[in-house]
Amino acid sequence: MPSLPDTPCYLDGEYTRVCDAKVSVLDRGFIFGDGIYEVVPVYGRRLFRFDEHMARLQRSLTKVRIGNPHTPEDWLQRCRRLVQMLAEQTAAEDQLVYIQVTRGVAVREHTMPSGITPTVYMMVTPMKPPTPEQRHHGVACMTARDFRWERGDIKSLSLLGNVMARQISADHGAVETILFRDGFLTEASSSNVWVVHEGALLGVPKSEHVLEGIRFELLRELCEDVGIAYNLRPIAEADVRSADELLLSSATKEVLAVTQLDGEAVGHGALRGKPGPVYSRLYEAYQRAKTLQSI
Ligand code: PDD
Repeated sequence: MPSLPDTPCYLDGEYTRVCDAKVSVLDRGFIFGDGIYEVVPVYGRRLFRFDEHMARLQRSLTKVRIGNPHTPEDWLQRCRRLVQMLAEQTAAEDQLVYIQVTRGVAVREHTMPSGITPTVYMMVTPMKPPTPEQRHHGVACMTARDFRWERGDIKSLSLLGNVMARQISADHGAVETILFRDGFLTEASSSNVWVVHEGALLGVPKSEHVLEGIRFELLRELCEDVGIAYNLRPIAEADVRSADELLLSSATKEVLAVTQLDGEAVGHGALRGKPGPVYSRLYEAYQRAKTLQSI
């Protein structure tokens, strides 16, 4: 087994190291993938859009009927302590906090048992942002049919479908797999997808097939700030393939230009295969938001 990092983590009330933390083999997270998670970016040791992440954590917990084991203040205090511990250990100022809540430990039975205590696991890692090369040239993506389950709105721990989808692009040396369900865009294996059409940013409507990334609302606000039209509507596969620009968004990618899709250059004219102007403006606006919206 490869050696595990000695970076800080939190497990059920105790601060420890990733290489030392242990959970029961009967934890329902291990047996069923029965739990949910969150990934919160940290800039300059401060948590970005924390309230929005807490609201989504609560939505996921409610949908799968797990009680929230902590108040937002308790979560904040735990996150901050981990951020501080990693900063002292590695000097990393920009980090990612991973939060996981499983239903808890019980004898294996599919029914949701009552009266068990959720398992809380948190860890923190240095942020690995896209490389300067990826920022400059954009990235390549592949496409696939969205063969995952129909509750992509839940930030579920059960990610086998997403893992299999991601591997399709990994096998082609690409960074993401963009998914279509019944001929329409849903999202990518671990990012949301945006199409630029005639200067407007288009995203898909909220539904049970798509995770509502924290960047949905953030990009709406950034578009408003910089004067880009923002619209959520069903997006046909053909619209993705003929997009002026194509973007990914996630906690780690922030916004990232897709410049190759299934080996074809994205976009038109002089900007074909290059990051476009809407990407550049949103990326700039995003950098400003990082300092203003972190706590
Ligand atoms: N992934 N869709 C899926 C399926 C995702 O897994 C993610 C995030 C997103 C974007 O959500 P957000 O903007 O809130 O990061 C969309 C995280 C980062 C992960 O699993 O590591």
